[in-house]
Amino acid sequence: MKTFYIETFGCQMNAHDSEKVVGTLVGQGYRQVPTPDDAELVFYNTCSIRDRAEQKVFHRLDQFKRDGKGKTFAVLGCVAQQEGEKIFEKAPHVSLVCGSASYNRLPELLVQLETGSRRVAGLSLDTEDTFETPFARRDNPHRAYITIIEGCDKSCAYCVVPFTRGPERSRTGQSVLAEARQLADMGYSEVQLLGQNVNSYRDPSPAAWDFAALLRHVAQVPGLRRVRFTTSHPRDFVKDIVDAIDEYPVLCNHVHLPVQSGSTRMLDAMQRLYTREEYLRRIEWMKATRRPIAITTDIIVGFPGETEEDFEVTLDLLDHVKYDSIFGFKYSRRPNTPALTLGDQIPEEEKTRRLAIVLEKQRAIQIERNAAYVGSVEECLVEGFNRATGQWIGRTSQHKTLNFLRPGRDQDLLGRYVDVRVTRAGPNSLAGECVN
Ligand code: 5AD
Ligand code: SF4
Repeated sequence: MKTFYIETFGCQMNAHDSEKVVGTLVGQGYRQVPTPDDAELVFYNTCSIRDRAEQKVFHRLDQFKRDGKGKTFAVLGCVAQQEGEKIFEKAPHVSLVCGSASYNRLPELLVQLETGSRRVAGLSLDTEDTFETPFARRDNPHRAYITIIEGCDKSCAYCVVPFTRGPERSRTGQSVLAEARQLADMGYSEVQLLGQNVNSYRDPSPAAWDFAALLRHVAQVPGLRRVRFTTSHPRDFVKDIVDAIDEYPVLCNHVHLPVQSGSTRMLDAMQRLYTREEYLRRIEWMKATRRPIAITTDIIVGFPGETEEDFEVTLDLLDHVKYDSIFGFKYSRRPNTPALTLGDQIPEEEKTRRLAIVLEKQRAIQIERNAAYVGSVEECLVEGFNRATGQWIGRTSQHKTLNFLRPGRDQDLLGRYVDVRVTRAGPNSLAGECVN
């Protein structure tokens, strides 16, 4: 029996792809081992969203340049798709390169390797299929991922994803529902629907559900208590999605809606297909619901041509929306992307300065927002236990971390839902005491 090791970089889509790859390999008779040292096959499932992410895989591969003899190295994911067979030149000890749109071919590529091919590649992007496998091996005991759409048809000027993951392909609503039901039967109470742009989901079967319709159906699967989804694109984020969340408490009251910039001028340059005002309208929909929806976002600072004024307008947006949390990034030039050739690149130190200002402002906003939860009782899914502090680690529907004590009772709470009274709040988490 052949052994393999896999390390995953990047987003949840990648994490879930790895779960499917593991399932596929195990189905083929391979056995997973916890370190590369013991493995005959070493897989890296890579990310190329920013340059730093891309460099990680080459660091890893470099470590094995000399002492990797006898092992087979495989590069999967976004760097594989982006760099293709150039990887064989950069890292001659790599034997397999395969992008996510070609994972259906992995078993066949592995057979080619075993039967003597020295180098094999799966780099086609023109598949109509999604990577569906009956064997996904689930890493998280509490939350299961379900892919609903692969690829991306947008062309944001900074982004490699349309090149690394290919065009959009939606799964049928029935296959998504079947997977959700199966996961609920297996005991998962929380699922997360995944896609680069879940909002543009469109059931390819005659039912032709849009994303809101899919949400309503998944929300009614018996046994599921929490349904999350990521990632949204403001252009395709219609009011009906917010209505569905408001109708079904099973749909978590958290939306990650990446804005990237608060300046319409920058949004235009980024080819985001919405204005600041259109984005804010979506925020208003969410602020008008019965259950308060937590809103999080992504911000890119230092996109080419971003002036001090554009930047100020982004800071003003943060003040206006008061996000529950944000991810902030310095713009990173990516191969093939429309922005690659733009003039007026912002110096690195200036990007660093702007990012620090954004994060500092957001920290103050989070302290203020989280403080408002003190005194309230929140339902938590218990996801862990911190031995050092004796606290359980809970997660609210809004996706906030709520650490709590449960005095006098030490039974295992993992995977259970409990009510917790919030007694303290910090910028990144809440703390409290279990009330049941
Ligand atoms: N540079 C910096 N950040 C980027 N992102 C995507 N591409 C780039 C890039 N070239 C950020 C966006 C996106 C998140 C996943 O990563 O904010 O929403
Ligand atoms: Fe990284 Fe984007 Fe690929 Fe996810 S889709 S792994 S974030 S490049």
